[in-house]
Amino acid sequence: MGKKLLLEHDHVPGIQGYEVYRKHGGYASVEKAIKTMSPEALVEEVKKSGLRGRGGAGFPTGMKWSFLAKPEGVPRYLVCNADESEPGTFKDRYLMSRIPHILVEGMITSSFALGVNTAFIYIRGEYYYVANILEKAISEAYANGWLGKNILGTGYNLDLHVQIGAGAYICGEETALLESLEGKRGNPRIKPPFPAIAGLYGCPTVVNNVETLAAVPFIVNYGGDAYAQIGIGKSAGTKLISASGHINKPGIYEIEMGITVEDFIYSEEYCGGILNGKKLKAVVAGGSSVPVLPADKILNLANGEKRLMSYESLSDGGFAGGTMLGSGGFIVMDETTSIVENLFTFARFYHHESCGQCSPCREGTAWMEKILHKIMDGHGTLADIDLLWEIQSKIEGNTICPLGDAAAWPVASAIRHFRSEFEEYVSNPNGVKKNRHYDTTHNLGNA
Ligand SMILES: Cc1cc2nc3c(=O)[nH]c(=O)nc-3n(C[C@H](O)[C@H](O)[C@H](O)COP(=O)(O)O)c2cc1C
Repeated sequence: MGKKLLLEHDHVPGIQGYEVYRKHGGYASVEKAIKTMSPEALVEEVKKSGLRGRGGAGFPTGMKWSFLAKPEGVPRYLVCNADESEPGTFKDRYLMSRIPHILVEGMITSSFALGVNTAFIYIRGEYYYVANILEKAISEAYANGWLGKNILGTGYNLDLHVQIGAGAYICGEETALLESLEGKRGNPRIKPPFPAIAGLYGCPTVVNNVETLAAVPFIVNYGGDAYAQIGIGKSAGTKLISASGHINKPGIYEIEMGITVEDFIYSEEYCGGILNGKKLKAVVAGGSSVPVLPADKILNLANGEKRLMSYESLSDGGFAGGTMLGSGGFIVMDETTSIVENLFTFARFYHHESCGQCSPCREGTAWMEKILHKIMDGHGTLADIDLLWEIQSKIEGNTICPLGDAAAWPVASAIRHFRSEFEEYVSNPNGVKKNRHYDTTHNLGNA
């Protein structure tokens, strides 16, 4: 069995509540941090741990924390990103609803390390029931002296608030999130300045993912070195993977970084193999935004090499040969999957969720959906495939926030690896239509 740092007590009845959580070592990191460590020493431990942001980009957390500006007399904020809208990703929901106190504990310890007295959890609108679970955990933490004034008699004060969003994918982008938290429309900000300098209400702010903050108690309790020893190379620790698609055992798995992708898909400990004994066709390893990875880039690689569940190994080969670990939204597709259909679903999503601020994304996502719709409907031409390629290449890198890239990469990788499928749709529309799962007769709205 792989090591579990976050879900170690997931099986314990009542772990959602304060008493049971506390009995299993809960809040020990707060005690240790506030009573025996300095904020600087805590940041050092997190740096040493090699922890990288679990929200998608994998930016080193300790480094991000050390960028936080500390001007005199200006408040600093910690914001937990619980927006979790990336298709294929549902691990934060699981963690928050099963073990809410691990996030509260991580936020208290992190807030102390960052010199923060007010912190927020920004949670997506559809997770209102999870917000209720968090609110209960937070009130238990207040009642037991872990939040509020003069925590543990040390003079340290912290308030923690839950803010529910309205269910927009773009509000997961950290600066759009901050705009939304301030009560405005969630449009991403132009950077620099980065939130560490000018974030919430123009004040220095750290934004971290749920899973990132939940990893902090272990690091504080056992030390950064202990965390760094788990995992592989620069991919330290464990990672929650949301596994879905054509597998026997979909669900949330905490893996030690560095296990092989093959093992993750086929072993009984994790996904338990492909549904109905079918063959693997492709994997979207890190949520809908990352390039699709065909089976021949996962199994039976040259020189007996193995593709690993780590930031480095999954991106090995660049975008032409690899993908990204992203947020760990692991979608498995069997041999019957239509890559074109799948891409159309993603394209609809990105068009719907584009905030419209940048023209390449606003116009490009609409056109990509339209062209894919045309191809799916049997009216596409070979030139449409080239046009699709052209459009995605004009979006990538040309927008204020990476939603544009997120919309472009699935298109680029699908054409790169599965161009023949697009050509088949174009040259033999009736043949592919017969096997089609997707109904394109829906209303395209104002696409
Ligand atoms: C369109 C878009 C959506 C995003 N959605 C999320 C999200 O739901 N949750 C999240 O933690 N990060 C999301 N991110 C990444 C955040 O901008 C940010 O990098 C992250 O919250 C930083 O936390 P971390 O360093 O702990 O990963 C998104 C980014 C983009 C461009």
